[in-house]
Amino acid sequence: MDKIGVVGCGLMGAGIAEVCARAGSQVIAVESSPDRVEAGIARITKSLERAESRGRIDSAAAVLERISVVEDINALRDRDLVIEAIVEDEATKVALFKQLDEIVESPDAILASNTSSIPIMKLAVVTNRPDKVLGIHFFNPVPVLSLVELVPSLLTSEKTTLEARSFVEGSLGKHAILSQDRAGFVVNALLIPFVLSAIRMLESGFATAEDIDEGLVRGAAHPQGPLALADLIGLDTTKAVAESLYEEFKEQLYAPPPLLARMVDAGLLGRKTGRGFYTYE
Ligand code: NAI
Repeated sequence: MDKIGVVGCGLMGAGIAEVCARAGSQVIAVESSPDRVEAGIARITKSLERAESRGRIDSAAAVLERISVVEDINALRDRDLVIEAIVEDEATKVALFKQLDEIVESPDAILASNTSSIPIMKLAVVTNRPDKVLGIHFFNPVPVLSLVELVPSLLTSEKTTLEARSFVEGSLGKHAILSQDRAGFVVNALLIPFVLSAIRMLESGFATAEDIDEGLVRGAAHPQGPLALADLIGLDTTKAVAESLYEEFKEQLYAPPPLLARMVDAGLLGRKTGRGFYTYE
């Protein structure tokens, strides 16, 4: 798979475009406005320059040459694989998959979603190639974390899953695990209730954000605490994932706590807006 398309060049899309280009693929990423195109290019450039300065890649410029970020989604016409990484909203993703199915010409091309929690079947059934649709779920930060969850739906062909695994492991050098098509897949179905419990603990005045996080870092050897992790994921995305899990399982442990909802209403989305449970430069 030489020609890769990525839709959405935010936190995750930029990382996915970067790792694909670092592996030698030609990447076209699509964003929704000129400002977002600029922001996507800036995000990728900054990350590649950091990788170059740390000696992880020889030349940021050489990798950047393999990536273009554009506004016109029709640029994805000739892609072998398109990975969707837009906002975690089912209706928006469904509309995009319909559009991608019409645009991407090769009947063998795979349409993948980086969704954290939306069932892949919802996206597969709106296309004319449900056998070619699956979840390829990366982790944040994409250039750093080695895990990818592969999520075939009931309609995904064995061949599609094998091709995706070969790309993820063979080309990108990541480690793939397989999950059934259930909201949250393996990792978020376990991780999000943990993050929500920490938010409830903070909300009830049980302990401060700093003490909750320090407790998990020093007492359970987590690399960062759950509230710092929520800030990294983005509180809007955390809430959206919790809502998908709650919708699927109807269990209280997945329900977004009011504090999370109010922070999202207030635009306190974590690192990406400079303030969440902590403040950032
Ligand atoms: P983000 O908000 O940083 O980026 C989303 C980008 O998509 C924005 O730049 C937006 O302009 C763009 N976009 C929205 N609609 C579009 C359209 N129709 N066409 C082109 N671009 C469009 O969000 P983030 O965090 O990158 O999440 C993207 C997806 O990845 C979501 O499905 C999320 O659940 C998933 N994900 C997020 C992780 C995280 O830690 N944030 C981890 C793994 C998966």
